[in-house]
Amino acid sequence: MTRHAGIIGTGSYLPDTVMTNHDHEKMVETSDEWIATRTGIRERRIVSAGEATSDLAARAGRIAMERARVGAGDIDLLLLGTTGPDYIMPSTACLTQAKLGLACPAADMMAACTSFIYALHSGVAAIESGRAEKVLVIGAEALTRLIDFADRSTCVLFGDGAGAVVLAASDAPGFEAIVLGADGTGADQLIIPAGGTAAPFDAEHLAAHDQYVKMNGSEVFKFAVRVIPRATKEALEKSGHSISDLRWLIPHQANERIIATIEDRLGIDDGHVYLNLAGTGNTSAASIPLALDDLYTSGRLAPGDLLALVGFGAGLTWGAAVLHWSMAPANKEA
Ligand code: ACO
Repeated sequence: MTRHAGIIGTGSYLPDTVMTNHDHEKMVETSDEWIATRTGIRERRIVSAGEATSDLAARAGRIAMERARVGAGDIDLLLLGTTGPDYIMPSTACLTQAKLGLACPAADMMAACTSFIYALHSGVAAIESGRAEKVLVIGAEALTRLIDFADRSTCVLFGDGAGAVVLAASDAPGFEAIVLGADGTGADQLIIPAGGTAAPFDAEHLAAHDQYVKMNGSEVFKFAVRVIPRATKEALEKSGHSISDLRWLIPHQANERIIATIEDRLGIDDGHVYLNLAGTGNTSAASIPLALDDLYTSGRLAPGDLLALVGFGAGLTWGAAVLHWSMAPANKEA
């Protein structure tokens, strides 16, 4: 019998502090109207003093484990996708592992906003190959710590949060296909220029605010609307499905206009495309598992539903996963 991997628990966490577009109006020359019409974002959550990526990750991970009814000893592997680790060393996955009281191997997956899909790819492979029974996969970000609040072209876009899933072996098909992509020739389109080994912090970099996200917004926009429809179709083809079979397309929640263009190019009805960025902003690696948990907890997922999770981000990177949902509706949980 073929061994498959499926999702048996989801969880998410958003920090308490809300930052609205009107709050941004007080910090840079912008307007609620500009932000809402160009991006669809109205507000986002931001971490508080003393809160870091691993804190958000642990909160989401704990909820996913509770829903999956698994204990600390049941998790064989923890994979954490993030753009903004607590530290360069040690990994945020190790910090999260300790906070959750786990004893399993733990590592970060860093593919920017596509990190969660990359981490899923490894987690699913570990289960399908028999190397793990249960894998905790988390996407977590405190990216507002790496944003220049004086740069209106980026600061209005991002928010913080975390989402998680527990993967487990199953006889029934869960994940049917995952495709990944990368194009490092586009590395400079979305980058934090300083703080790594290429450009350690010095006075010059700090004066140029090179410790923060720099983005060529229009190039990233064009890249996203080119690769996402292609990756989605490729993953659907590999799994023997077509767009019309999808109950939900869950795209990386970066920008409403990007998502609308993707809908047009795929010919998918917007009733099948999930959007929650108005209240979260772009939470990078956390956006897809946050959206998935939203759909689940609001009772909009039923066993057998076909889902496509699609992401893109710095690198440049992209990825798409097609899966059958297998958890009973949230409101029918025992
Ligand atoms: N408020 C007001 N005006 C602004 C703001 C702001 N917050 N930001 C930029 N502007 C101005 C610009 O300075 C420019 O003014 P100018 O014409 O006088 O030079 C004008 O608005 C238009 O700027 P554009 O960059 O052309 O605006 P655009 O319509 O392209 O929207 C945006 C910008 C929203 C960033 C868009 O390019 C975009 O969404 N790109 C993709 C970004 C993205 O999704 N990034 C993340 C993906 S990967 C990841 O998640 C890490």
